[in-house]
Amino acid sequence: MKIGVFDSGFGGLTVLRALLERVPAEYVYLGDTARLPYGAKSRETVARYAVSSAKFLVEEQGAEFLVIACNTASALALDAIRAAVAVPVLGVVETGANAAEASSTTRDVLVIATAATVESHAYASACSERKLRAIEKACPLLVPLVEEGWIESPVTAEVLRIYMAELLEQARVAGLNADTMVLGCTHYPLLRAQIEKAAPSGLRVIDSAEVTAEQVAGMLQVSGRGSEAKFFATDSVKKFRALGSRFLGREIGVVELVDLETAGSR
Ligand code: DGL
Repeated sequence: MKIGVFDSGFGGLTVLRALLERVPAEYVYLGDTARLPYGAKSRETVARYAVSSAKFLVEEQGAEFLVIACNTASALALDAIRAAVAVPVLGVVETGANAAEASSTTRDVLVIATAATVESHAYASACSERKLRAIEKACPLLVPLVEEGWIESPVTAEVLRIYMAELLEQARVAGLNADTMVLGCTHYPLLRAQIEKAAPSGLRVIDSAEVTAEQVAGMLQVSGRGSEAKFFATDSVKKFRALGSRFLGREIGVVELVDLETAGSR
């Protein structure tokens, strides 16, 4: 089985990491780094970019199953992707909401994500389908900070402190008693330690990587470790290798540069 994993950049590598530990498959990963960030773009643009990326993975790389390891693309373009390719497609908003459902006992959750994901209210709807109340907060500065590698910077700590104070105030005004916070962007697990420091004690911080891997294993009825992965990026392969290793938790060897803008079929 060949599984395609797609994100606008490096964030989806946190999902690939979990998949490699649980799902025996061959992987092909695409980071659309030239067109990142998706989180500040319109639904139409995100759908166009995500569909061309999905087609590359399925039609040119032979992926038989797609994991959209980008919350923004999952929130805004899942239907467009499903309509464009003839393989099963799993998005991370659904798996993130499943993780929230499993974690929360108060049934109130906080979600931090990109502006586009928050504006789509995909998490609020997915949570309400599971009888959870959700407050969503856009944190647009976090993706650029992660992409710059400013993981432990005091600037990042201060940005997180401000976002967290705003989010907690929003939750207080809405009367929520949240016990769980979903990292609704696949870049954010890299900031988990800093986010946990900024969050009130007792708030469980969760991301969809593990739960996504578990869901894929369940859907394909397999278990075991993944074999090697092939990597593609639409911008600097040097940067992808350097930063990507951080997200994946191990060295990334060869990264091939791909141009999604010019090929006629896309
Ligand atoms: N990693 C993407 C997500 O999960 C966001 C990055 C971007 O803005 O492109 O939403």
